[in-house]
Amino acid sequence: MSRLNGTDRPYDIVLFGATGFVGTLTAEYLAAHAPEGLRWAVAGRSERKLEELRERLPGGDEVGVLRADAAEPASLRELAEHARVVATTVGPYVTYGEELVAACADSGADYLDLSGEPEFVDLTYVRHDARARETGARLVHACGFDSIPHDLGAYFTVRQLPEGVPLRVDGFVTADATFSGGTFASALNQFARVRPMLAAERDRRRHEPRLVGRRAAAPTGAPRFAKEVGAWALPLPTIDPQIVARSAKALHRYGPDFRYRHYAAVRHLPVAVGGVAAMGALVTVAQLPPARRWLSDRLKPGEGPDAEKRAKSWFSVRFVGEGGGRRVFTEVSGGDPGYDETAKMFAESALSLALDELPATSGQVTTAVAMGDALTDRLRRAGIRFRVAATG
Ligand SMILES: NC(=O)c1ccc[n+]([C@@H]2O[C@H](COP(=O)([O-])OP(=O)(O)OC[C@H]3O[C@@H](n4cnc5c(N)ncnc54)[C@H](OP(=O)(O)O)[C@@H]3O)[C@@H](O)[C@H]2O)c1
Repeated sequence: MSRLNGTDRPYDIVLFGATGFVGTLTAEYLAAHAPEGLRWAVAGRSERKLEELRERLPGGDEVGVLRADAAEPASLRELAEHARVVATTVGPYVTYGEELVAACADSGADYLDLSGEPEFVDLTYVRHDARARETGARLVHACGFDSIPHDLGAYFTVRQLPEGVPLRVDGFVTADATFSGGTFASALNQFARVRPMLAAERDRRRHEPRLVGRRAAAPTGAPRFAKEVGAWALPLPTIDPQIVARSAKALHRYGPDFRYRHYAAVRHLPVAVGGVAAMGALVTVAQLPPARRWLSDRLKPGEGPDAEKRAKSWFSVRFVGEGGGRRVFTEVSGGDPGYDETAKMFAESALSLALDELPATSGQVTTAVAMGDALTDRLRRAGIRFRVAATG
């Protein structure tokens, strides 16, 4: 493997989509927390918006501006060649994202995004993982609430359990929050693409080497009352369990036989039933293009919960891990999951890839595999809580 990443590139980090809702929060986080001397730039399709953003940022004079458009592959290649790490918020990723992954894989730039779209992640694995391994680029998807608390939380839980034995971990997500136009658009797009998503998953399975001598899986659990957390547990069909299983496949610390199940935890049964019905209705409506357009128009790109709403939002992911005769209860928790904490997780992931001593990895890797302990430490210092609640 040759690592083409070099300090000869003008920027350590380029943030693409910096003028969007999460992009702006991420730029503000970087402006407030980047160490002195970090060379970083904001990038996007509108130079005017980028200049306005830069003027608002503390220390903005030091921040570069790059124009690039997802519809202009040459501009994305140039962007990738100017950066050691490219962080992009330009989604839905299945619509706008692939050319940038290709450009990063080809030029050896590390790439990270906020994609919670399994179809996109499977497609980039099949098309760009091999090239990224050749150039040394790390392609890290899902560096926001999807899937950092779950991926690093499962990793943290596993590390509290004995080594070399079969391990079982269940994750239970609770949150009180609202979402942005960008997230809503990505979710609707995803609900309308169930068939391509399943096809991309099959294609990935054909290309991915089989795990030999170990097992790691994330089967869908059944709805149940989970005594261990005192709530109704509903299987949550997000990308998170797939990401956790990929970390477990890559890292021997997860043991010879690892199983993860992912749930939403809801205290009251009527709320659980109502939630399932509402999700079913949304998925059904998303199949009809006019209804989908009508729904998308309710929440415009660039819009999202204001600071006051975000300040009242929170998340908690509780994990129950078992193995080798030991049981452990852990929790990852923080503030507004979708935006404030996502911007923090995303920016800290970019800083970790750019600055930390990390294990030698390349190709498509998860956050636990690429950055594990270093990123967990960063997030703890930044106020996201990782704790062991009880052991037995
Ligand atoms: N994983 C998670 O937990 C999580 C959390 C939050 C968001 N997300 C995802 O992050 C993404 C962004 O969300 P958001 O709320 O920030 O959305 P948003 O406000 O709509 O921002 C989208 C950004 O993409 C840019 N863009 C659109 N088309 C472009 C093109 N052709 N070329 C270059 N840039 C283009 C927009 O530029 P302009 O400013 O010029 O319009 C904007 O900067 C979504 O996919 C969302 O699902 C994930």
